[in-house]
Amino acid sequence: MALLRVLLFFVFLILVSGQTLPFSPADNYLIDCGAPNTIDLPDGRIFKSDPQSLPLLSARDNIQVSIPAGGNVNVPSPLYLTARIFVQPSTYKFKVTKPGLHWIRLHFFPFNNTEFDLTTASFSVTTDDYVLLHTFTFDEDPSKWLLKEYLLNVTSQTLSLNFSPMRNSAAFINAIEFVSAPDVLLYGSDLTGDFAFQTSYRLNVGGPTITSQNDTLDRRWDPDRMFLYKAAAAKPTSVSPTVITYPEGLSPLVAPNWVYASAVQMADVRVSKPNFNITWKLGVDPAFGYLIRLHFCDIVSQSLNDLYFNVYINGKMAISGLDLSSLTSGLGVPYYKDFLLNASMVSDQVSVEVGPMKDDSSKPNAILNGLEILKMSNSVGSLDGEFGVDGSRSKGNGGSNRRVVVAVGFAMMFGAFVGLGAMVVKWSKRPKDWEKRNSFSSWLLPLHAGHSSFMNSKNSYNLGSHKSGYMGNNFYSSTLGLGRYFSFSELQDATKNFDQNAVIGVGGFGNVYLGDLEDGTRVAVKRGNPQSEQGLTEFQTEIQMLSKLRHRHLVSLIGYCDENSEMILVYEYMSNGPLRDHLYGKNLSPLSWKQRLEICIGAARGLHYLHTGAAQGIIHRDVKTTNILLDENFIAKVADFGLSKNAPTMEQGHVSTAVKGSFGYLDPEYFRRQQLTDKSDVYSFGVVLLEALCARPAINPALPREQVNLADWAMQLKKKGLLEKIVDSHLVSEINPESMKKFAEAAEKCLAEHGSDRPSMGDVLWNLEYALQLHEAASQGKVEEEEVPENYPMGSVEEPKTEISQAVAAGEVHVVENSGTAELFAQLAGIQGR
Ligand SMILES: *[C@@H]1O[C@H](CO)[C@@H](O)[C@H](O)[C@H]1NC(C)=O
Ligand SMILES: *[C@@H]1O[C@H](CO)[C@@H](O)[C@H](O)[C@H]1NC(C)=O
Repeated sequence: MALLRVLLFFVFLILVSGQTLPFSPADNYLIDCGAPNTIDLPDGRIFKSDPQSLPLLSARDNIQVSIPAGGNVNVPSPLYLTARIFVQPSTYKFKVTKPGLHWIRLHFFPFNNTEFDLTTASFSVTTDDYVLLHTFTFDEDPSKWLLKEYLLNVTSQTLSLNFSPMRNSAAFINAIEFVSAPDVLLYGSDLTGDFAFQTSYRLNVGGPTITSQNDTLDRRWDPDRMFLYKAAAAKPTSVSPTVITYPEGLSPLVAPNWVYASAVQMADVRVSKPNFNITWKLGVDPAFGYLIRLHFCDIVSQSLNDLYFNVYINGKMAISGLDLSSLTSGLGVPYYKDFLLNASMVSDQVSVEVGPMKDDSSKPNAILNGLEILKMSNSVGSLDGEFGVDGSRSKGNGGSNRRVVVAVGFAMMFGAFVGLGAMVVKWSKRPKDWEKRNSFSSWLLPLHAGHSSFMNSKNSYNLGSHKSGYMGNNFYSSTLGLGRYFSFSELQDATKNFDQNAVIGVGGFGNVYLGDLEDGTRVAVKRGNPQSEQGLTEFQTEIQMLSKLRHRHLVSLIGYCDENSEMILVYEYMSNGPLRDHLYGKNLSPLSWKQRLEICIGAARGLHYLHTGAAQGIIHRDVKTTNILLDENFIAKVADFGLSKNAPTMEQGHVSTAVKGSFGYLDPEYFRRQQLTDKSDVYSFGVVLLEALCARPAINPALPREQVNLADWAMQLKKKGLLEKIVDSHLVSEINPESMKKFAEAAEKCLAEHGSDRPSMGDVLWNLEYALQLHEAASQGKVEEEEVPENYPMGSVEEPKTEISQAVAAGEVHVVENSGTAELFAQLAGIQGR
């Protein structure tokens, strides 16, 4: 009877209070590591002491430390006063009573103690499936405590939390929370099956810190002020939390009313210059995707239908004309919206802007109440670095991921209670506009060739054993035919201990040194920066590529060294350096037209071989004048395959990938559609041809606007028949007009807007050879007509188009990224378009 009454009481509670019933977690592990006694926190939570939680822990060591009494520390909670230290790998194992979302919160405070200097601790933390921290060190202000919060969908019966100290170091932890979280946090999303999340930012915009005492899910919400771009533009405002009314279907668990009861609005509402944005800028790691959740609640309007504003994420329109009144039918009614962002475009940050619509009502204003940014695990299940728990390496997002995809995708998680229909209509209109606004020439993106590229899982080689670690010995398999093995000391001798004066190049992943081997051979020694994992992919790709390739016009690999965790490649030395240096900027004696032709022909041969000669075609991806090197006889050789990529198979038609390459050389089609074909190299090579002809950089920001981009400028002039105007003055007296015309024509064809209209490297080669023949014939005073067909069809118009180019031309080939994450983004974009 008593039981029935209790049950009835609960039913009553549920009926009366709806979803405001506080959440009671099925799994609720709270551990104060290293503590002798149970701790009661002011928020009502009880953390178990270490002895009580020992059954969970399997560790070979038992080291507990605490802050010495009287230690002068400033921490928000007694949890940080003690710690457990692991000098050997150790595991906490939690039993999962109810599968579903769980928080993992890790509390760290590297305080001074007599046994260990925790500020120098270096360690990794993983779960069964996810990497949470990878060779983490406390490089922030060590006087600060640190809370790392993760949200995982746990589907197994147990969850292991593994602490692995790096060699000669220790791992430590002050407190652990492993607690069930309500599914509404990621309502109806498919995301949780594939991703783990880490809270990067959770901000109570316009309000104070909200601690676990005011958040039923024990979250912490920080103030936003330090992320405001121009604080003067923003005015905090707040109301009593009690006026906040949650709408049907929106659980207060998503965010407490304290979040919605404060906001930032425009500071100068109703002044003479009403149009400006309020901007928040938050640093992120561009190697990861992010879920961005914006919380809104109109607490500023006097009446309905008074507030319309735009929301931008990373400069892109995210919501045009957000009309809270029509979405919520009331003032003080919360609303939130999620966005997926898979890389920041311009720098390593997320920017969120709210601003009034252009020709808006008399009272322009814009608000934001809360902002959450959650990092999403990458393709190998890591939230830190590019390795998964099994040592596998991230494909899509490793290292750089400066992917220029549709910047903002819309997730469906808000579908439960908002007008999804309206969004879809707006979205489906957007792609056209997007294409237009983001056209190639209007973007000046700092694309760094030095970032790691992407390896197709099917084609990537497993270089060495994952188990022994990438930095371990025998990194390379000796069966790859990588040439000679060098000892590290041998290379130290050759480069005078990597003397700074021996540096002849600075590449994406390290320096290139000039070296003299004992037998007198000069070599170029490319030494990977052992600290940077970023270049490792390039490094591997390069070995993989080079080991397969041998050609007179490709720089050849002599050998390598992997001793002492070094990543060193030894190449033949190209004594005349990059082609670029002989064209401009270095005051070297100018190359003759014939030399330029021969160099371009050599490079074209090398590329032609790359595209067609190897078992599977290879796309270079970073063709430019600094990657065409000249030997002592000015024979051109193509270098730097760090960004190379296997060419698409016939069925694929293209390789979809992050946009890589160097600005000024980038194929506009590749840039727009991220579909890589060998025609992307052809485009870049067209720019190289123009550089050789005009002796100026592909991009020269010092010039008037229309001249900055060589390809654009030269093609404009060519159309007007004025190309001669920008031909290198050193050539003017010597160049044969017919030869130049042929050459310029080749460049123009290479630069065709659509890949399918561009010639193959073979065709380019043929035309360059023709240009050379014209030059030589002219300098000998005769042209033999029969030798060369008059109108060789550049771009092979009569040739039946291949399946690839037809498919591409017809737009049948869609972006299909090879990494799971990217696939999801593509799908989401697709969903929104429907
Ligand atoms: C967690 O994953 C399981 C299995 O993939 C799925 O059925 C469930 O819906 C997920 N939970 C949430 C909250 O998405
Ligand atoms: C607000 O920011 C967006 C995106 O950066 C920009 O396009 C827009 O012009 C800005 N609006 C105002 C009024 O400055």
